[in-house]
Amino acid sequence: MGLFSGKKGIIMGVVNDFSLATGIAKFLHAEGAQLGFSHLPDQDGKTRMAQRVQRVAEPLGVSFVKPCDVSSDQQISEFFAAVQESFGHIDFLVHSIAFAPLEDIRCPTLEASRQGFHTAMDISVYSFIAVARAAAPLFEKGGAMVTLSYFGGEKVVHGYNMMGVCKAALEMTTRYLALDLGRKNIRVNAVSAGPIKTLASSAVGEFSKMLDLQADSAPLGRNITTLEVGKACGYLLSDLSSATTGEIMHVDGGFNIMSAVGRNG
Ligand SMILES: NC(=O)c1ccc[n+]([C@@H]2O[C@H](COP(=O)([O-])OP(=O)(O)OC[C@H]3O[C@@H](n4cnc5c(N)ncnc54)[C@H](O)[C@@H]3O)[C@@H](O)[C@H]2O)c1
Repeated sequence: MGLFSGKKGIIMGVVNDFSLATGIAKFLHAEGAQLGFSHLPDQDGKTRMAQRVQRVAEPLGVSFVKPCDVSSDQQISEFFAAVQESFGHIDFLVHSIAFAPLEDIRCPTLEASRQGFHTAMDISVYSFIAVARAAAPLFEKGGAMVTLSYFGGEKVVHGYNMMGVCKAALEMTTRYLALDLGRKNIRVNAVSAGPIKTLASSAVGEFSKMLDLQADSAPLGRNITTLEVGKACGYLLSDLSSATTGEIMHVDGGFNIMSAVGRNG
């Protein structure tokens, strides 16, 4: 019997094998969960995105794989209607999605455009509210949701720029959603993960410096893996954390506890 035997849930944010969402999916699958994936829709009749996600889904036996652009309320509503049809109820939801236009994250926050800010906040923050609202009625027996944050939402990190503003908002969103959903016995938490090379993180300027600083300065003296993120999410999504909600759990080798001087080695 695995930790998730008999449990069903949705993971939003798998794009390839490097995705944090994939590490989470692998752990939950190994613990017996039945999973469904959403992915960013393909444009112009292409199928590249769907094929990429299928490459992760197939080895895990995930047959429910459907597009859902989280900037569209209609797509969110259609997606969760399909979830209800296939799964009936669900026990957990993973939101592992962020986006900012490159020109607005690669510049000083001072120079970020109004439209870029709107887009980044919409996809990286508001989408968690939107999907939580759409998914909540499907949690007939209660359950848990998790989103993914980064330390740049707590303290200023060179190169993280406007995404740090989004993560600060996402972490506060996590706490308010925990309040709103607590009486329905739905817990809402976030994992604040250390830096990992992925498609999304390649948009962050000086990312390799962030990786080096993490490995040099964290008490554990190394970078982290997507499977370690998966294990932490497994804890937050399972009954093991039954009295924990509104929490931001660091999975960063202890990097966040260091002073600025310590971080600089
Ligand atoms: N990689 C890191 O260093 C790191 C560290 C801490 C937190 N995070 C967070 O983890 C989460 C996942 O990122 P990742 O690093 O695994 O990268 P990733 O590129 O593998 O995942 C990002 C996902 O967001 C999806 N997405 C973007 N816009 C979307 C939209 N409009 N609708 C639906 N999906 C959309 C992408 O398709 C992709 O699946 C993000 O919130 C990221 O900020 C990443």
